[in-house]
Amino acid sequence: MGRVALVTGGSRGIGEAISKALKEAGYTVAATYAGNDEKAAAFTDATGIKTYKWDVGDYDACKAGIAKVEEENGPVEVLVNNAGITRDAMFHRMTPQQWKEVIDTNLTGLFNMTHCVWAGMRDRKFGRVVNISSINGQKGQAGQANYSAAKAGDIGFTRALAQEGARAGITVNAVCPGYIGTEMVRAIDEKVLNERIIPQIPVGRLGEPEEIARCVVFLAADDAGFISGSTISANGAQYFS
Ligand SMILES: NC(=O)c1ccc[n+]([C@@H]2O[C@H](COP(=O)([O-])OP(=O)(O)OC[C@H]3O[C@@H](n4cnc5c(N)ncnc54)[C@H](OP(=O)(O)O)[C@@H]3O)[C@@H](O)[C@H]2O)c1
Repeated sequence: MGRVALVTGGSRGIGEAISKALKEAGYTVAATYAGNDEKAAAFTDATGIKTYKWDVGDYDACKAGIAKVEEENGPVEVLVNNAGITRDAMFHRMTPQQWKEVIDTNLTGLFNMTHCVWAGMRDRKFGRVVNISSINGQKGQAGQANYSAAKAGDIGFTRALAQEGARAGITVNAVCPGYIGTEMVRAIDEKVLNERIIPQIPVGRLGEPEEIARCVVFLAADDAGFISGSTISANGAQYFS
């Protein structure tokens, strides 16, 4: 059996592609999701990858959920913090609830999940943590003050933790996708997508979830031990940081 990889939000979108790619690379994969039972069941049927439901924004739920994953699969050696949401609004219309939901999931979720596997990784002297941030955490995006703040926070978290994990054989890296053709992006008004977003992407198209998954497989590998605290941008040449 390969190393155990846990992918949050691993049942659809970018996470689904990451789960499948890690399985293909020989990992024993467990995927979490928040509430879409139907999609999670279909994903498990199609891939044989087990799914677990909890909210990454809830520390106690993460602790209990990870304990169950480890009981059934073995210790988590690769953690991919992929779960994320958007609650877009221009700042003057953004509600405290929209701010809180995004920070809880997209930033605090990383603390909750990583904190619950960190001691085990330190004890075993091996770990891979890959955080899925975003181009909009790098450059900022109007209408996404909440999301941009959380995703920029993910990069700071990555860099701080990379230094702490280094002596324990744990690498911590971030991947910043540009616009990828998942439900999150397809939910954007088609006119806005075609007339304002795609023309800003030099390659002239949205990215594919599999193009993000290959970055994660690369960073998760045993022989990627010298790569830590880095950010891989996969955005079709839209933005350089
Ligand atoms: N799509 C893009 O263009 C793009 C660009 C840059 C960065 N990203 C980032 O990439 C990641 C994946 O995005 P995506 O487009 O694949 O999203 P998506 O298609 O909307 O899928 C999101 C996944 O996260 C899960 N999830 C959401 N909130 C959760 C919570 N509180 N606890 C546990 N799981 C939760 C969902 O579970 P359910 O199925 O149960 O809802 C789902 O599996 C996100 O972090 C996103 O910010 C995406």
